Amino acid sequence: MKLKIATTKSDLALDFARYLAIVIAARDEVHIALSGGSTPKVVFDELAANFQPDIDWSKVHLYWGDERCVPPEDGQSNYKMTLDHLISKIQIPITNIHRVFGENAPSEEAKRYGKLLHEKLPKVKGLPQFDLVILGMGDDGHTASIFPHEIELWQSERYCEVATHPESGQKRITITGKLINNAGIVAFLVTGDNKAEKVKELVNREGAYQSYPASLVAPTTEKLLWFLDEAAAAGLT
Ligand code: 6PG
Repeated sequence: MKLKIATTKSDLALDFARYLAIVIAARDEVHIALSGGSTPKVVFDELAANFQPDIDWSKVHLYWGDERCVPPEDGQSNYKMTLDHLISKIQIPITNIHRVFGENAPSEEAKRYGKLLHEKLPKVKGLPQFDLVILGMGDDGHTASIFPHEIELWQSERYCEVATHPESGQKRITITGKLINNAGIVAFLVTGDNKAEKVKELVNREGAYQSYPASLVAPTTEKLLWFLDEAAAAGLT
């Protein structure tokens, strides 16, 4: 794994935006799975504000690595956050946006989205391959929407599963380890001092790290990048 440590969250956003522009420029067509939460919001703002001339979004297909089971206009929707901070501000064909239908019945939507990924994504080793999966990490070590209390979802035979948030009980659709570890590149974007302990355990493979779903991220391409701010990296020597 490669670590890129930025001073602040906005410096991380600039680092990652530069990296993303290089990834997209190097490909004719790019399939990217986005994560939700607050960290990507800063990245999307950076991309929308300063990288329009650098990125040809017509080559890019956007998917979500996880989504809350809420309608697309709901303030909790990862799609809505992405629409507000990025999609509404760039020139990207609407046919390149492959949102999870959070308004659907969760088990039906997990099946539908899994089928869509199978249809839309190129196959590598017989499995759909994202060029890039962007992941966050919760302060409990969850990633995408695979939480420690149901870490077994990672090993699912299915491409997508229905997950349950441990506190709120909110249902979520999440891609599983089968797809995440088949990605060309996986990039974690992790910020905040509340993540520092987990980052330390995961990077040093110590403590209870094996109980964190984030520890299971190991792309077979070995292209695993961690974009951290200093706060999240505080526990690393
Ligand atoms: C979500 C995200 C989730 C997120 C982490 C980190 O739907 O909430 O996909 O997995 O990435 O909770 O969130 P922050 O970036 O806000 O710390």
